[in-house]
Parts: sequence; structure tokens; C-alpha cells
Amino acid sequence: MNAETMSSKHGLAAGLVPTRADWTIDQGWEHYSAQEHATWKTLFERQSRLLPGRACDEFVQGMRDLPIAADAIPDFRRLNDVLMQRTGWQVVAVPGLVPDEVFFEHLANRRFPSGHFIRKPHELDYLEEPDVFHDVFGHVPMLMNPAIADYIQAYGQGGLRAQKLGVLDKLARVYWYTVEFGLVQQKDGLRIYGAGIASSASETVFALDDASPNRVRFDLPRVMRTRYRIDDFQETYFVINHLDELLSLANIDFAPLYAQVQHQPEYAPGQVLPDDVVLTRGTGMYHDARRGGK
Ligand SMILES: [Fe+2]
Repeated sequence: MNAETMSSKHGLAAGLVPTRADWTIDQGWEHYSAQEHATWKTLFERQSRLLPGRACDEFVQGMRDLPIAADAIPDFRRLNDVLMQRTGWQVVAVPGLVPDEVFFEHLANRRFPSGHFIRKPHELDYLEEPDVFHDVFGHVPMLMNPAIADYIQAYGQGGLRAQKLGVLDKLARVYWYTVEFGLVQQKDGLRIYGAGIASSASETVFALDDASPNRVRFDLPRVMRTRYRIDDFQETYFVINHLDELLSLANIDFAPLYAQVQHQPEYAPGQVLPDDVVLTRGTGMYHDARRGGK
């Protein structure tokens, strides 16, 4: 998956008319074609080859416990039987991008909106909107984990507040650098827990193995001030030491932090600061080349 996918994740898709007030639709699992199931299988098998030794233990466990397999796009009804019982979350189908407040309202009520469609077979690495592979393969295994389950619900509640305060960009960065592109230090090394990485073959390798990006210890006010790449791999990945750190984030009152960072300068995506705890100082080669070489 290209990072561009998430650029307007919560934005309003032009021309889409919701069928219900909360924008949900029926998944219509029976209507997927053989070709669509085959695309899922291709993506599933590609990620399944890459993720052992790269995805965090909780992702692997969540995947193991869910009715998600290579042979078919998962049926949300069957997913929800397991997910509801484990963490009280459910997956709901949406036709594509939904407005911010609709997205937050779902998360605040432990409903994860998932695109019901799947990308085209000739565009396996390009997405304009999150599809069922990104949303289900990337996000749902982590929603089986109690810490992530609480954290994402708190993000939904926080999103509704941040919107009123006009500071949504600050909060969105926290989501971006954790839920979508987060890394966690585990006993055998750095591991992926962010769905944007876990659902992307190329970023799975880039985020962990490439010399180019920075890997920096997560720090909340610092992350709030850090812009991100919406059209390419991240220049910096932020690393937590344990998923339970997200639980404490879920309980922090962000309001004083917003006030603190609101008038401070922002950081560029690839910037390394004197106070950073740097795990890997990236060469920056990849993005330099993309900018025209240096
Ligand atoms: Fe996502």
C-alpha cells in the first residue's frame, strides 16, 4: 500500500452517497467475484511471506485467532463473531472515504469502518482509498489486542474533541505515527504494528530493513509537531517499547498538549532533533533520490 492511501483517509469522497446516516453499507460478501477473491489471495500470500519476523507478536496472534485466510476476502459477519467476543470491536463496511466526524463516531463506539471493495489486480501497490485488504488485513488483527482496542476507541473520542478545538492535524499525526506507521521494540528486535506498513509489501521491507529512514523513540509532543509523508514511504518511524504505552496515551488529556504545541514550529518528516532518542539515523538516500538526488 502506498502511504497516499491514508492522506485523506477521513476526508469526504466526492460523489459518494451514503445509504445510511452513519455511512455504513452491507458488505455484500456474496457478491465478490472470483477475481476479487484472487486479488485478496495474491496480497495475503505476499504479506504472509514477508511478515514473519517483521510483524509484532500481537499482530501474528491476532491473525492466528481470526477467520482471515488466503482463500477469500473475509466475511465481516464471521470476523465480528470473534472480534466482538475478544475486545468488543466490530468491522463495518463503508463504500470508501467517510467524513471525519463519521469516522471518529464509529471508532468511539468500537466500530472500525472498512472499505468493502478491493483494489484492482493491476494496481496491487496503488490505492486512492483504503480498501478491504488494508483495513482488514492491516488493522483488524491489532484490534484483537486490548491495548490497541482501547487506544483506537480513545482516538475516536479524542478526534471529536480535537475537531471542536481546531487541532485535528496534531491528533492525526499521533494516529498516523502509531496506528498506521508505528514500530514497536520487541525482544527479538524492531517489529511492525502499524497497519499502513503491515498491509504494504514494499513498506514492510523499507520500514524495517532499509538504511534510509530514521527510527526514533516515540515522544508525544514531538510527534504532534511532525509532518508526515502522504505520498510515499515515511522518512521517520517512531518506536514504542511496548504496546501498553498506547494505553497510557489513551488516558492522557491532550488539551494542555495542544495548547503547548500549537504555536511551536513544526518539524519536517525527515528531521532529527537534538533531544531525539535515535535508534537508527537514516541515510535519507531514498527520499533524496526521489527529490531529484543530492
Ligand atoms: Fe488505515
